[in-house]
Amino acid sequence: MMARCSFDSWLSTILSPSSFECEQLSWKSMWPNRRNSVHLFHVSAKFYRRRKLFGKTTNGSSVMVLFKQDGLATNTPANGPLAGKSTIGELRPLSTSEENPEGVNFGKGVMESTISITVVGASGDLAKKKIFPALFALYYEGFLPKHFTVFGYARSKMTDEELRTMVSKTLTCRIDQRENCGDKMEQFLKRCFYHSGQYNSEENFAELDKKLREKEVGKVPNRLFYLSIPPNIFVDVVRCASYSASSSTGWTRVIVEKPFGRDSESSAELTRCLKLYLNEDQIFRIDHYLGKELVENLSVLRFSNLVFEPLWSRNYIRNVQFIFSEDFGTEGRGGYFDSYGIIRDIMQNHLLQILALFAMETPVSLDAEDIRNEKVKVLRSMRPLQLDDVITGQYKGHMKGGKAYPAYTDDPTVPNDSLTATFAAAALFIDNARWDGVPFLMKAGKALHKRGAEIRVQFRHVPGNLYKRTFGTDLDKATNELVIRVQPDETIYLKINNKIPGLGMRLDRSNLDLHYAARYPREIPDAYERLLLDAIEGERRLFIRSDELDAAWALFSPLLKELEEKKIAPELYPYGSRGPVGAHYLAAKYNVRWGDLSSDGQE
Ligand code: BG6
Repeated sequence: MMARCSFDSWLSTILSPSSFECEQLSWKSMWPNRRNSVHLFHVSAKFYRRRKLFGKTTNGSSVMVLFKQDGLATNTPANGPLAGKSTIGELRPLSTSEENPEGVNFGKGVMESTISITVVGASGDLAKKKIFPALFALYYEGFLPKHFTVFGYARSKMTDEELRTMVSKTLTCRIDQRENCGDKMEQFLKRCFYHSGQYNSEENFAELDKKLREKEVGKVPNRLFYLSIPPNIFVDVVRCASYSASSSTGWTRVIVEKPFGRDSESSAELTRCLKLYLNEDQIFRIDHYLGKELVENLSVLRFSNLVFEPLWSRNYIRNVQFIFSEDFGTEGRGGYFDSYGIIRDIMQNHLLQILALFAMETPVSLDAEDIRNEKVKVLRSMRPLQLDDVITGQYKGHMKGGKAYPAYTDDPTVPNDSLTATFAAAALFIDNARWDGVPFLMKAGKALHKRGAEIRVQFRHVPGNLYKRTFGTDLDKATNELVIRVQPDETIYLKINNKIPGLGMRLDRSNLDLHYAARYPREIPDAYERLLLDAIEGERRLFIRSDELDAAWALFSPLLKELEEKKIAPELYPYGSRGPVGAHYLAAKYNVRWGDLSSDGQE
């Protein structure tokens, strides 16, 4: 590693030395002896996600390192250490009002920090399939801090070795670095430990605390708890962790997975209980869709391209569609799913979050609070859902190619007369100046004909189109559509009208196409990697604030209550089909066609 900054050694006390390279750009006076001194420097890709680091020098002055993504990336050598993303860093003393040391000290001879990540519910599916692999991927890519420990916590009895064997089964390596994967895996697993305990036992958490302290000795301890457990034990775990296992001198953060309640009241109650033990700043409510690459890219697309933002309003957009589909049912998860249903499972969180990002006004900055303020404003400008604007469905058994696909109610954990929706479509409206009258349609379903998640933006007709005759009476065929395919096979494409080359004048529909696999051969990180890293770094932009959550529930709770009270029966649709026909009628009511089922053969 090249060490070109005079303060490399400070940085390397808080980050893995292999994760950064630093180049001094300028330096105005000696630091830290003078309060107003500032260093400007340039660091490589792995730093760019960090916004701020806090520290203290040996003489006690507080300092802050600020990182900003810069425009120099293209000027850096393609294969050089600063290739790709680059960052301008600024190291400056903190004013008293800014002081917020995150338990991180750096400088000659001062205490280093360490992070202990405890995965509560370590033997569950989410932990095995997503959390441990994401932690390993971060470690593998050099994103985890130099000092870290991972603990699994659950009720089952298990040794450290058994946890390692369990975890190792789901770890995978990044394609471009496969050579030393085995070694890396071994090193990572050595840092994984297990503690068995009850979820409501302060005593068991105190035992965990003792083990954590042994690993943290001599360092500033920061602790992150990932609650990968059912919601009915969230509060118990938070109570025990906060009383018996929170960090004494560093920070303590808790990542919570949805469901955050079932409606406005239960969600508010959950928030109230969590806040008995934690500050809002310590709670990281995860919605993993916000960690998906194309969802994160939405703001870049809108706010850094002149061609999109001016069109982003009722003046040019006819409707917007948020579509989620899975080609498998709820097999194995019936117990959970039956008390939540597709509206709570997908729409009220994943799709609504995407909608908020899509429709928000330009935030003052990219800071978490500025973005979340704008999201809340959109949510609060929306009309609560009306029963007339929603249709629900449930999949039924189906025979295809000699294979029998089960009905939702065939699951032994689901009551035979269950009315829980496995499919829903809804029309939503934002009553503000930008979006007045534009239908935002959502559609989410299990056991459909394909798996995918996408945003479709259908634009208005071209007024007085000179080529009108070419399109016949179906003017819809001639309108532009922007498709952002979140998964699988990430793609952004714009449907345009184009002349078919040759004599005469024939037009067709073509796509301007940005296909990620072709343009960016590097593997796209899993959403959990991004979100875990953000939580470690204290970046809250992609996590849900409590007022956002309240606003989201306020839109859906009355509808959910009505559906349940009136016992509205969902429309049955065959497993593996395109879903209930009611979704078409709902869209037609607003003069909309679902883009994913379009007849022009260009989904
Ligand atoms: C979860 C839902 O939040 O998201 C699941 O509870 C759903 O029902 C899953 O299957 C989909 O996530 P992804 O990332 O696989 O699209």
